[in-house]
Amino acid sequence: MFLSAKTPLVAIDIGSHSIKVAQLAGVRDKYELLSFGLMPLESEAIVDGVVKKEDVVIDTLSRLVKAEKIPTRYAVASVAGEAVIVKKIKVPMMSEKELVLSINHEAEQYIPFDIDDVSIDFQIIGRGVAAEPEEESDQEKMEILLVAVQRELIDSRTGILAEAGLKPVIVDLDMFAIVNALGVSRDLSRLGSVALLDLGATFTHVNIVLNGFTAFTRDIPLGGSSCTQKLMSGFGVSYEQAEAIKRGEMPEKVEREDAVRVLADSFEKIAEEVQKSFEFFSATTNTPVERVFVSGGGALVPGAAGLLGEKLGAPAELLDPFAAVKIGKKFDREMASRMAPIAAVAIGLATRKFDYK
Ligand SMILES: Nc1ncnc2c1ncn2[C@@H]1O[C@H](COP(=O)(O)OP(=O)(O)OP(=O)(O)O)[C@@H](O)[C@H]1O
Ligand SMILES: [Mg+2]
Repeated sequence: MFLSAKTPLVAIDIGSHSIKVAQLAGVRDKYELLSFGLMPLESEAIVDGVVKKEDVVIDTLSRLVKAEKIPTRYAVASVAGEAVIVKKIKVPMMSEKELVLSINHEAEQYIPFDIDDVSIDFQIIGRGVAAEPEEESDQEKMEILLVAVQRELIDSRTGILAEAGLKPVIVDLDMFAIVNALGVSRDLSRLGSVALLDLGATFTHVNIVLNGFTAFTRDIPLGGSSCTQKLMSGFGVSYEQAEAIKRGEMPEKVEREDAVRVLADSFEKIAEEVQKSFEFFSATTNTPVERVFVSGGGALVPGAAGLLGEKLGAPAELLDPFAAVKIGKKFDREMASRMAPIAAVAIGLATRKFDYK
């Protein structure tokens, strides 16, 4: 098969709590949802973002792809965590082609890993900007968003997809996917400064977008699983019961008030870390974060957006990646809206097109 921008791709979001798959089709100026499915992972299969039980992940992914009757093998996957570095840097003015050839050399000083062990990509965000003051140069520069990912992580992720019978053709980042998910329904260039927070089980992915461009990113190694653990040990409940508490369903022996306290405390810890990111963003851009969109499973905890908005001092709302997506009859619209925030990464990935460079 000849691969092109029209090659249908399936998006695969392998999270530590569950795997999600999604497929979109472009119908004129709108997207249509072709498939979305989610399958929970055994709790020890992925720990701190590292795959511990490869067989379990491969088996779960294979079953999910089969259950959703995904017609294509070509896939877009994503990675996150400490092996991922995203930095805004300035490089001498040159053409994109020249930069492709010299990017390793330009990037080397910014990357704490051996340059031969990472896969590098970039996006040009601005041309003709002034050099950094310490460079004392009057030569104009261009600003790029540099992305470096340890090859080991990419190889591990693509290896899992291949074992599940898929052909990975794009590897994106969770923290970029959420921006694409919001971009489906909003014109990002008109949103001013918005923070996107994806509250997963292991990570909280942060992307602050300023006038349509990523201005700050961070994968905070904090998520909902530590809260699940606290509920289990604090109330002596099972994993399933702790998960039910997070959905707002109280087991008999647990008082709602007590549970809410534990949940609020865990959001507070995440908010503290996010606040540091907001402060850094504001200090470097002289712009406050004006608005917050939350996604991920953590966003489904009743009251999550309100609580985070209050702690962060900016209005927060749930990110609904389906807001402008045509949802066919085979889907339950109501269920799609209820689950929407947890689908953000997968839907963002599903907007990617294969471009045979
Ligand atoms: N309906 C729900 N109500 C409340 N909490 C939920 C709900 N569904 C999932 N969660 C919580 O959200 C978290 C999982 O979210 P998500 O699926 O976004 O994580 P993940 O992508 O698997 O993990 P990560 O990206 O961090 O590796 C878990 O902590 C889970 O308890
Ligand atoms: Mg996730």
